[in-house]
Amino acid sequence: MAHILHIDSSPRRENSYSRTFSNKFINFWKDGHPEDTVIYRDIGHEVLPYMNEKLFKAMFVAPEERSPELVEAIKISDIFVDEFIAANRYVFAIPMFNFNVPAIFKAYIDLIVRVNRTFAVVPEGYKGLLENKKMLIITSRGDTYHSGSPMAAYDFQEPYLRTIFGFIGITDITFIHIDSLMGDKNARTKSLEAANLKINYTVTNW
Ligand SMILES: Cc1cc2nc3c(=O)[nH]c(=O)nc-3n(C[C@H](O)[C@H](O)[C@H](O)COP(=O)(O)O)c2cc1C
Repeated sequence: MAHILHIDSSPRRENSYSRTFSNKFINFWKDGHPEDTVIYRDIGHEVLPYMNEKLFKAMFVAPEERSPELVEAIKISDIFVDEFIAANRYVFAIPMFNFNVPAIFKAYIDLIVRVNRTFAVVPEGYKGLLENKKMLIITSRGDTYHSGSPMAAYDFQEPYLRTIFGFIGITDITFIHIDSLMGDKNARTKSLEAANLKINYTVTNW
């Protein structure tokens, strides 16, 4: 049985493509898998702390040595990490902002990539602590970055997401890029048609 963590991160609501498609995927998925559970988080409209002095300190102090102030500072990270570890599948909707993830999604990553919780330092280097997880990442982009296109080298988003989630042990990652959203109307229409096909395919093959 799947326990899915579904996260939207666009600051837009009705007009967000990434949000629309992640919701479409989750609704189709629930139809086919009514026994599965989904936890939803909209970090596009949640206040997440950016890294700060207390949080930084708390992350590198053993739990039993944390002062009440540090326990309080790390609470949100503990909640997010517990929630992340409890899931075995992830559906993340992430717009491209300046060739990478939105700052709010980076803030989320800074809260869940935690030593001895999601990765460990071992004699050989680092070890991701998550195993047997699957991730679907739906991105939305104004331009297009597919292999061979003029802007391909500007895509720091997919490589970054593969690296950071691979670092904590998640390597089974499927990407659906909804691109050309700010280009001409034909390109956008084609892109949305392709995204619909990819969503349908992924729902039956994930
Ligand atoms: C601050 C900002 C930066 C953006 N940077 C890029 C970019 O680097 N590349 C790109 O293709 N589109 C960029 N866009 C366009 C968005 O990726 C696009 O509008 C996307 O559809 C937004 O996601 P949403 O539809 O889920 O809200 C940017 C938009 C904003 C607001």
